[in-house]
Amino acid sequence: MHPSKVQITEVGTRDGLQSEKTFVPTDRKIEFIKGFTAAGLQRIEATSFVSPRAVPQLADASEVVAAVRDIGPTIAALVPNAKGAMRAVEAGVDEMVVFISASESHSSTNLNMTVDQAIAAVEPVAEIARQSGVVLRAAIAVAFGCPFEGDVPTSTVSAIATRLIALGIDSLTLGDTTGMASPRHVEAVCGRLLTDHPDIRLTLHFHNTRGMGLVNVLAGLRLGIDQYESAAAGLGGCPFAAGATGNICTEDLVYMLSELGIETGIDLEAMIRVAKEMERCLGRSLPGQLMRAGPRTRLHPIESVRRAVG
Ligand code: COA
Ligand code: ZN
Repeated sequence: MHPSKVQITEVGTRDGLQSEKTFVPTDRKIEFIKGFTAAGLQRIEATSFVSPRAVPQLADASEVVAAVRDIGPTIAALVPNAKGAMRAVEAGVDEMVVFISASESHSSTNLNMTVDQAIAAVEPVAEIARQSGVVLRAAIAVAFGCPFEGDVPTSTVSAIATRLIALGIDSLTLGDTTGMASPRHVEAVCGRLLTDHPDIRLTLHFHNTRGMGLVNVLAGLRLGIDQYESAAAGLGGCPFAAGATGNICTEDLVYMLSELGIETGIDLEAMIRVAKEMERCLGRSLPGQLMRAGPRTRLHPIESVRRAVG
């Protein structure tokens, strides 16, 4: 049985933009977030409070959050350490997301820390979250496989979850950072997590690197999981993992969910308009598919086709 309602978190201005070489001006990022809000998104992972040397594209995290903190949706941001947490709280985030890799090699390229060090770095972040009343969430990157080490045992993912839960996280995202997951694998990893940690709220974060993104969502829905992350226009990718490509695309996901009769509260046409705006801003074609043809209910005037065919 599918859930009847799904919450989508838009990560387009965070995961989506983090690998873009050309700096997207701060006011454009703010406009995109306002566009997501107008389309009905209620949770937005707006940016990351990471080292600007590691991710120069997101060096304007404080300005972006300050401009959107009061526009309505829950504003979340990634934080890798106490310095990031302090910056995030000062800017006014509602939620901080710590991120731990499920493999040592991804942890060292992404965070320059071992997995143990990265988990230890969550402690001061958790303390800052407690003191400031900001919600603390966690994400496990490469939870469905690592581009350097291959398969990651489900027991490893579950053991990391145990340690994060002990630190007081409010919910957990499983990230398929480089699109390694497939439906059977989603069942195995999420099934294990749901068995070992029945009280934790799971969110799934898929990349469409190998074309499996939406079928993986379907596998998650069958397990009753009702929170997913996606990026407008299918933008995205991790700069610290070779071959990484776009997130699953928000409009495509909303379309699939609406065809399944699952409520998201998102206005598809408004979402398509923001996705097209992002495409124009970046100056290239982006992977989202629905923004080309529109939903099947959008009919096209036959005259325009006759003219085009000649
Ligand atoms: N915000 C701003 N600056 C930060 C920072 C933060 N959260 N954390 C560290 N810095 C600064 C330090 O002040 C220091 O600056 P300085 O050289 O001018 O004194 C510099 O960055 C290096 O700090 P250090 O603690 O030695 O970090 P590092 O070089 O080992 O990098 C991370 C560790 C975690 C900060 C860095 O790898 C990072 O930001 N990674 C983010 C990766 C990411 O976003 N991945 C995508 C998500 S999947
Ligand atoms: Zn991602």
